[in-house]
Amino acid sequence: MNITLRQLKVFERVARRLSFTRAAEELYLTQPAVSMQIKQFEENIGLPLFERLGKKIYLTRAGEELYQLSRKISEQLDEAEHLIEELKGIEGGRLCVTVASTIHYFGIRLLAEFCRRYPKVKVSFKVTNRKGLMQQLEDNEADIVLMGQPPDDQDLKFEPFLENPLVLIAPAEHPLAGKQKIPLSDLQHENFIMREQGSGTRTSVERFFSERNIQINTSMEMNTNGAIKQGVEEGLGLAIVSIHTLERELESGRVVVLDVETFPIRRQWYIVHRTGKRLSAVAREFSEFVRNEAHLFVREDIIKAALGKSM
Ligand code: PGA
Repeated sequence: MNITLRQLKVFERVARRLSFTRAAEELYLTQPAVSMQIKQFEENIGLPLFERLGKKIYLTRAGEELYQLSRKISEQLDEAEHLIEELKGIEGGRLCVTVASTIHYFGIRLLAEFCRRYPKVKVSFKVTNRKGLMQQLEDNEADIVLMGQPPDDQDLKFEPFLENPLVLIAPAEHPLAGKQKIPLSDLQHENFIMREQGSGTRTSVERFFSERNIQINTSMEMNTNGAIKQGVEEGLGLAIVSIHTLERELESGRVVVLDVETFPIRRQWYIVHRTGKRLSAVAREFSEFVRNEAHLFVREDIIKAALGKSM
């Protein structure tokens, strides 16, 4: 049999997702390339591995057996990669970090300093929302993930490393700007721009209002903090975002933080990895760096001024 590691990898992903399209997206391949790999794999083996019923694909008996085996092979390959990383030490190592879209503002600064200290480290730095982060952890695709508090029922090790206050922002000329202790009930007259489904910020905001039995009007949904901030500036609505996304806007006075009762919503940033994951020397060093020094990379002066006495 002429099976290649590449075929095995593509097969494993299609089998895991039961979708050629999703496998292609995740492997950064075109769908015809994925179909071709699977076709060659099936020809090499001499048995069909998938069957199609309507729009769905299913694993055949042979596919099922091979899927279990290919998962074990993937684990062994990870193990080999880990060993090689360990032998290379920090300087020659590779670091795969994925961070929440909300974190990347100071995350990039953190990374820049780490790379100054260890210029030979090769880095993969991915940015996605909470849903994407959970997927990355499940797929074992990141050494370290920086995100909001992960759920307790997954096989994850996590530790808080920084406060993440969520604040309510408005354009500087908004009638509520400058008012003190605005009652939560006043927000019912406002329109809000909300992050997309799958965002951790959005989940926290929804939980916060539903716990207080307050209904807010979501006039618009946007999937980046950058777009939301610009939307607020342009008067499309108010929004609730992490203070860490706001340094530039607050400094220039383009948006203001409203003083609303019970705000900010208090969250924390966590450093996360899978429980069984053996971190490489460079991943361990990066974790230590985040734990000990992350607070130095956020603008405390701007944050304190914006939050006033509420923290
Ligand atoms: P985000 O934040 O999905 O809103 O960017 C991630 C998180 O809170 O876990």
